[in-house]
Amino acid sequence: METNIQTAKRLLEADEVVAIPTETVYGLAGNALSNAAIVKIFAVKERPFFDPLIVHGADFEHLKAYVQNIPATAYELARHFMPGPLTLLLERRESIPDLITAGSPWVGLRAPAHPLTNELLQQLDFPLAAPSANPFGYISPTTAAHVAQQLGDKIPYILDGGVCNVGVESTIVGFPNGKPTVYRKGGLAIETLENIIGPVEVLAVSSSNPQAPGMLKSHYAPRIPLVLGNIPEMLDEWAGKKVGILSFFRQYTTLPAEQQVTLSPNGNFAEAAQKLFSAMRYLDQLDIDVILAELLPEKDLGRAINDRLRRAASDMKNSS
Ligand code: TXA
Ligand code: MG
Repeated sequence: METNIQTAKRLLEADEVVAIPTETVYGLAGNALSNAAIVKIFAVKERPFFDPLIVHGADFEHLKAYVQNIPATAYELARHFMPGPLTLLLERRESIPDLITAGSPWVGLRAPAHPLTNELLQQLDFPLAAPSANPFGYISPTTAAHVAQQLGDKIPYILDGGVCNVGVESTIVGFPNGKPTVYRKGGLAIETLENIIGPVEVLAVSSSNPQAPGMLKSHYAPRIPLVLGNIPEMLDEWAGKKVGILSFFRQYTTLPAEQQVTLSPNGNFAEAAQKLFSAMRYLDQLDIDVILAELLPEKDLGRAINDRLRRAASDMKNSS
């Protein structure tokens, strides 16, 4: 009998795409050095080719041969956070296919900290390209069941690694002109990065001409409209409509419990991040007119959570 990792390995070696668990979200993985596998990833995800893919390896040692002119701060970050919820944008070498980077001179590198996927990556002799395992335009999956619901009939295998314990995508850091710059707020808090390398730039979300296509403003868009604001005030405004609530730590006695999700009753940012996408999926399948949501304090993982909430609240339909 094959183990689950062996099944995933055999399929990946045959240029198939396989969903893999990571500590952030599930990825839709294929051999990053095979154009045939990369094309399948784009096809399954219905993702446009201009949106580049992150390359995953077991650790920075496995990945650094694909890049050059690595800044000292990048080594420092890799030493602390690889494996971890961090993606580094570094200068690609020729060995990285053009399809991975969408023509950019930079390639995103990441070492996932999930034990199953890390073991799989140790056993493979190529790195894995993996976008989040959601169809383009929807919320990223944080359980194998989320992947099965949306992509189950399009892929041969889902490596089930349970619930992703970080719950939001990796923090993306690049080095334009050598200066560490956050391109996507994610599962590694900016404060944590800054404790190691000092102050970093944070790029504003931009919907036109985005420097990282992941910054397209609307992303993660649920089916049911999601509005942001003060929940008690919005409850008054929406009186008479069927509403759902996505709150940080308060519960509202005026609404049935099934119509609300409290991300963390103790106000814990990590717990809130872990539950965010499941909460959005849950509320999105209720028979309601609107999801009323509130922003978290703009610090720690609250920054990545707020970024996802703002994208979900936007009415443009654009996502990776
Ligand atoms: O946590 C994560 O990063 C997950 C897991 C599966 O590793 N992956 C993920 O991939 O979120 P994806 O493709 O859904 O989002 C990655 C974002 C994309 O929006 C892409 O445009 C941006 O990173 N990106 C990737 N390579 C890039 C590059 N060379 N330059 C600029 N942006 C890049
Ligand atoms: Mg994505």
